[in-house]
Amino acid sequence: MELFETMIQHTSVRSFTAQKLTLELKQQLILAAQSASSSNFLQAFSIIAITDSKKRKTIEQLAHFSVDNGNNGEFYVFVADLNKHAQVLAQHNEPSDHLRTIESLIVATIDTTLAAQSMAVFAESEKLGVCYVGGIRNDLFKIKELLDLPPLTYPIFGLFIGYPAEKNEVKPRLPIAAMLGTNTYRALTPALIADYDKKMAAYYQQRTTNNQQAVWSEKVRHHFDSPRRQDTGDFLKEQGFLF
Ligand SMILES: Cc1cc2nc3c(=O)[nH]c(=O)nc-3n(C[C@H](O)[C@H](O)[C@H](O)COP(=O)(O)O)c2cc1C
Repeated sequence: MELFETMIQHTSVRSFTAQKLTLELKQQLILAAQSASSSNFLQAFSIIAITDSKKRKTIEQLAHFSVDNGNNGEFYVFVADLNKHAQVLAQHNEPSDHLRTIESLIVATIDTTLAAQSMAVFAESEKLGVCYVGGIRNDLFKIKELLDLPPLTYPIFGLFIGYPAEKNEVKPRLPIAAMLGTNTYRALTPALIADYDKKMAAYYQQRTTNNQQAVWSEKVRHHFDSPRRQDTGDFLKEQGFLF
């Protein structure tokens, strides 16, 4: 299949077969991640492969994300990482103040996300399924302890990768008219929201697993009806970021 076809057929996969990835494929996944663009070539991320079944179970529990009792699929945690750069500066007896800013945190978050998505796209091109797991941020302090995360690091998400046991139908995205502006920002309109809600209602009703009466705008409203993960700021401060 052409890469474009693979990309527009993307759906998150949450159930994997017992088929293992070869060592070569696992190495290619890491190389694909490392080959992504990187702001000022800082390469401000680390990847932690979680192979220990106890650790994996603990992470799956705190993320509310369990995959076939923890046996199937590879699981990687992507960590925004400015600790490496602090080490470089320390070797030059330079202070690390400028690593601690929101701008540096954003740079590291972008680098980490681009690396993960490069890995994900390559994985899907190899007929693997992927699912991001932002749920690892449900308990950042526990993840830090579990993975020995040093200062100036921040675990952003997990990424499951394996051979799909089942796949959902492709979720329709917002219409292009709702997100592509030309020369100026294109705002969402009530008509576009209503049209998209109709499309998503049909999708949610008809999909083969976990079908439900739902619309996108209601899910958005529900998502933001209370603050989420309120200890994120405290965690980032503990890790040495200043804002
Ligand atoms: C950063 C990020 C974090 C996510 N975290 C979770 C998660 O914790 N649990 C989960 O089941 N899906 C998670 N997902 C998957 C999204 O729910 C999914 O991508 C979205 O519903 C669109 O569906 P699709 O990927 O099948 O097209 C996450 C996706 C992203 C990009």
